[in-house]
Amino acid sequence: MSGEDAPAQQQNAVDQKQETKPAEEPKTEPPKTESEPAGAAEAAATPAATTADKVPEEEAFTYRALVLTGYGGYDKVKLQVKKGKPALKAGELLVRVKACGLNFADLMARQGLYDRLPSPPVTPGMECSGVVEAVGEEVTDRKVGDKVMALNRFGLWQEVAVVQASHTFLIPEGMSFEEAAALPVNYITAYMMLFDFGNLRPNQSVLVHAAAGGVGIAATQLCKTVKDVTVFGTASASKHETISQGGVTHPIDYRTKDYVEEVRKISPKGLDIILDPLGGSDTHKAYNLLKPMGKLITYGAANMLAGQKKNLLAVAKNWYHQFSIHTLSLIQGNKSVCGFHLGYLDGETELITQAMDTIWICTSRARSSPASTPLGILSRWAMP
Ligand SMILES: NC(=O)c1ccc[n+]([C@@H]2O[C@H](COP(=O)([O-])OP(=O)(O)OC[C@H]3O[C@@H](n4cnc5c(N)ncnc54)[C@H](OP(=O)(O)O)[C@@H]3O)[C@@H](O)[C@H]2O)c1
Repeated sequence: MSGEDAPAQQQNAVDQKQETKPAEEPKTEPPKTESEPAGAAEAAATPAATTADKVPEEEAFTYRALVLTGYGGYDKVKLQVKKGKPALKAGELLVRVKACGLNFADLMARQGLYDRLPSPPVTPGMECSGVVEAVGEEVTDRKVGDKVMALNRFGLWQEVAVVQASHTFLIPEGMSFEEAAALPVNYITAYMMLFDFGNLRPNQSVLVHAAAGGVGIAATQLCKTVKDVTVFGTASASKHETISQGGVTHPIDYRTKDYVEEVRKISPKGLDIILDPLGGSDTHKAYNLLKPMGKLITYGAANMLAGQKKNLLAVAKNWYHQFSIHTLSLIQGNKSVCGFHLGYLDGETELITQAMDTIWICTSRARSSPASTPLGILSRWAMP
């Protein structure tokens, strides 16, 4: 679970047509700003020729969206109907969304703990896959009908979405929409941390927390593209078999065991790379668990989440235990500390594209020869 008791369907990349459970029917609660078109019900019952005469096509256009209506629990996410065809600016695409991703950050955003999402009412959703339905001016490398996956700061949990063409990637032949929607955030994050910051090399050791989660699975698979990398992965015991099959060398049940002790039993000198999505006191533990020349990449604060709604005690505890270090200690420790946040790289198209290109190469190798390399898109979402 993502630190809260999320229903299973929220953990899956879902065909948005099926993903209506956490929401309510539009009729029960009309949206404040983008309401169900006043005449939608009547229009459905009216002969097409009559309405077409009166309502221009752009205005008659409606689409469903999941809207965060306020901060809190699942009940704050409502299914609403938006009205009017989104207009495209230069460089933009209109994508008919087929599947979308649900990330840990979406859970944090719903609780009001994620600063990259504008205030409600707002449609969350930072990744999706779908088909290009219209192309704005100056777009030269995408056309109507292309199958793409897209990254955006928000706004992708809806039937049609406007995205920058430069924030989309063509879906390779043979990859499903569900697989494609699960790929960008998890794999770009894992790739950039391990290779751009971590400089992962053969024979090294890596600690992957939340190893059964989206980023955890991606990180494990990417580790396995490098020879003889040892992966320590923390996860609930029920997920150990799955993560072992996915490439984790030493699964650790962090709920019943001290993971630092478990790592030291196997690797007394510590580890080369630690990916820390937890924050608070776990960041201190990670730093102390590094070998000389080791690298800590901190990229989340999952410890802040405890339950469906914002838990102020958990937030305060996380802040209280926030890691900080004097540069002299860093020098003497021969260690490196990096911070990663994909949400703040949205202007870095070139970096992201480079990462994606490499991930493609790995995934296509894995797909053409699944036996020779463990990298493949194994999970639609976090929950095995
Ligand atoms: N900075 C970035 O750009 C970026 C991008 C993506 C994700 N992230 C961060 O990465 C983390 C994971 O995201 P995700 O999307 O991969 O999550 P996810 O798919 O929702 O999975 C969350 C997993 O976390 C595990 N978990 C929860 N608390 C844990 C703990 N204290 N120790 C170990 N495992 C724990 C749960 O499994 P168990 O049942 O095993 O506990 C669950 O499988 C989050 O902190 C998220 O904010 C950051």
